[in-house]
Amino acid sequence: MLQKCLFPVAGYGTRFLPATKAMPKEMLPILTKPLIQYGVEEALDAGMKQVAFVTGRGKRAIEDHFDITYELEEQISGTPKEASLEGIHRLIDRCAFSYTRQIQMKGLGHAILTGEILVGNQPFGVILADDLCVGESASVMAQMARVYEQHRCSIVAIEEVPRQTVDQYGVIMGEPIAEDLYRVSDMVEKPSPESAPSNLAIIGRYILTPDIFDILRQTPPGKGGEIQITDALKIQAQQGGVLAYRFHGQRFDCGNVDGFVAATNFFYEAYLRDR
Ligand code: UTP
Repeated sequence: MLQKCLFPVAGYGTRFLPATKAMPKEMLPILTKPLIQYGVEEALDAGMKQVAFVTGRGKRAIEDHFDITYELEEQISGTPKEASLEGIHRLIDRCAFSYTRQIQMKGLGHAILTGEILVGNQPFGVILADDLCVGESASVMAQMARVYEQHRCSIVAIEEVPRQTVDQYGVIMGEPIAEDLYRVSDMVEKPSPESAPSNLAIIGRYILTPDIFDILRQTPPGKGGEIQITDALKIQAQQGGVLAYRFHGQRFDCGNVDGFVAATNFFYEAYLRDR
C-alpha cells in the first residue's frame, strides 16, 4: 500500500500576485478551506498518511495550518465555532507531516528531487494542490492508487483538453491498454497545438516509483530553464514504466483566476444545496 504523498509547494504563484506576495498560493481558500487542505484530504482518502511538503521561503503558514493554534482554540472551545476546525483536526490526528525546503526554484522536477530525503526508496503520490480535483466516487488519488496496485509502475493522471490549450500542459503519446488507461511511449512539455502528440494532458496528480530520483539527477533543465518532471517521466516511459490514467471526476486549475473562480462557484453551489 502507498503510504507517502509529496506536496511540492515551493512555487511563487506569480499568477496570483499581489495575493501571493506574502502568502502561499496553497493557502488561498475555496469557500473556507485552503487549497492545501483539500489536497491533504485527498491523500488521506487514498490511504497516504505520511504527508511530505517541499516548501520554500514565505510558506510558513502551511506548517502552521497543520498544527494546533492554542490561543484561538482555547478561545472558541465550547462554542459552536469549534465545529469549523473538525476537518483540520481530523487530518492533524491521522497524518504525520514532514517538511524540507527547496532553496532555489528550479522547477517541479527539481522540487520532487528535493523531496527524496522525505520519501526514501518507495513509491509515492504527488499532489499539486493548485489543481483541485473532485473525484466521482473515490478521490482522484484513490482511483490512481487502485491502478498502481494492479500495475506497480509510475502513473500520471490525464484529462482531454481542447487542442488549442495543450501548450499549458505536459502531453502524452500513448496506446490504450484498458478502459481509461494508456501505456505512455512519449511525452512533451508544453507543445504547440500543431506539434502536440495528442490532447491528453497531464494534470497535477502522479504516482512515482523511486527510480525517478536517479533519472531526475541526470535530467538537464528543459522548457523555461527548469528541471521538468515530464522530461524525467519520458525516460521512464521509454523503458515502458509509465501509465496514463484518465480519471473520473473534475479538475479545477486554481493556479489561475478563471479556474479558481470556477472552483469557488462549484463548491458554493454544493454548499447552498446542503445548507
Ligand atoms: P506552477 O507552474 O503552478 O508554478 O508550479 P508556480 O510558481 O506555483 O505558479 P505561477 O506559475 O508563478 O503562478 C506547479 C507546482 O509545482 C510547484 C508549485 O508550488 C506548484 O505546486 N513548484 C514549481 C515547486 O515546488 N518548485 C518549483 O521550483 C516550481
